[in-house]
Amino acid sequence: MSRTIAIFDTTLRDGEQAPGCSMNLEEKLEVARQLGRLGVDVIEAGFAAASPGDFASVREIARTVRGPVVASLARALPKDIDAAWEAVKEAERPRIHTFLATSAIHMEHKLRMRPDEVLAQAASMVRYAKQYCQDVEFSAEDASRSEPAFLARVIEAAIEAGATTVNIPDTVGYAVPAEFAELVSFIAQVVPNIGRATLSVHCHNDLGLAVANTLAAIGAGAQQVECTVNGLGERAGNAALEEIVMALKTRCEHYHATVGLDLAQIYPTSRLVSSVTGMKVQANKAVVGDNAFAHEAGIHQHGVLANRATYEIMTPESIGLPRNRMVLGKHSGRHAFMERLGQLGILPDEGQAAILFEEFKELADRKKTVADRDIEALVMGRAVQPPESFRLDRFVINSGNSIASTSTVRLALKEGGQAERVAVGDGPIDASFKAIDKIVGARLVLEDFSLSSVTGGKDAQGEARVRVASEGRSYNGRGLSTDVIEASIKAYIAAINAMVHETKGA
Ligand code: KIV
Ligand code: ZN
Repeated sequence: MSRTIAIFDTTLRDGEQAPGCSMNLEEKLEVARQLGRLGVDVIEAGFAAASPGDFASVREIARTVRGPVVASLARALPKDIDAAWEAVKEAERPRIHTFLATSAIHMEHKLRMRPDEVLAQAASMVRYAKQYCQDVEFSAEDASRSEPAFLARVIEAAIEAGATTVNIPDTVGYAVPAEFAELVSFIAQVVPNIGRATLSVHCHNDLGLAVANTLAAIGAGAQQVECTVNGLGERAGNAALEEIVMALKTRCEHYHATVGLDLAQIYPTSRLVSSVTGMKVQANKAVVGDNAFAHEAGIHQHGVLANRATYEIMTPESIGLPRNRMVLGKHSGRHAFMERLGQLGILPDEGQAAILFEEFKELADRKKTVADRDIEALVMGRAVQPPESFRLDRFVINSGNSIASTSTVRLALKEGGQAERVAVGDGPIDASFKAIDKIVGARLVLEDFSLSSVTGGKDAQGEARVRVASEGRSYNGRGLSTDVIEASIKAYIAAINAMVHETKGA
């Protein structure tokens, strides 16, 4: 008999804590909707007390996403729990997730609390959360480095106070699989009231063992697993959702456990998260990496041609990655384009479909063939774009290796009209950014800039990403074009639009 494991997705909270992965409200909403389509059981939408921006995005997700439980993290403090409840209270199924560290090192140096104080605080804050919400999760932070008998007492007290889920995090990714399984078994055996709560685990990947530890914990009786799309998260990240889920599916005879997800949404979800956060998925990443289903060696290709199961333990189709790819180009019609979108798990409404088809046609005029990656790049760019306070109208560059670069940029303004400025810079991109700064009149610091090609080939689209900072806050922008300077300018303008949108609500 197989049991169902609950998938608690924390891409929007722990995942967002990864350096350079912060998302704005629209981006978080887009990811939350996609997690809904994927069918996760719980979305941890953020840490409401962390900042007004975090609060607003948790509240918006709670208001709009239907299906999964929507949780907010909260330290075991009344003000955090108050903020968490305020943010999630309109959810169809709200959860408050409160945590307190139980390891000696955290209690002594971070909390400066004695173990008996930690035990009392854990129970009283669960009770405090319970006055608001029936569904309360308690996490014993740094559980894997805690004294097991003490951990068991804290968990028992949290359940007694009303916790409906108790979570055992390997906060610093220190555990190894056999030992972590032993800890989960120990808790399951010695905590007398454990049957009244769901037993959960949350593993970090500092030693590359997050997924292995999570699977070992499932083997030992864990009923909920906390994970992130593409394994995003603090430091080396969290356990990767797609790897856990596909391990359970592929080795179901071993784990006797299933999940209630629509597996065909795994690939589209991975692409969306990568696109929104700017965190590329490494080519050899399990399940969703570019090479995960590519067979290079002749002997492997021969085997696969004879019978795919010789070298494939799961199919690309099972995660929503179509195998037979039609080549799209300028002669492709709307029907073929729409069918391709559907195969990629992209379901735009009528209006969006018309705009995307227009953009596809423009791209097909500039590129011989339009690959899946090109289409995904078009779609992802559209999905999360802030309103355009500024739009690129045209630019002219004068550049060379023996002269200073000059750029003239003209932007269309939201309130009507255009503005044009000229600037000299160290190369055409620098000159263009300086011309834009003159138009916008903002003091921006360019924190990060990267340029990559969406596909191979001389006519490939360039994808530019920039992160700019202004008054202590960072804003991301992304631009696409077969011309890398245009892509860079568009990315810079997109970051500025994000800034204007967030600061002035434009
Ligand atoms: O890693 C951790 O311990 C956490 C908890 C707050 C659940 O993220
Ligand atoms: Zn964590």
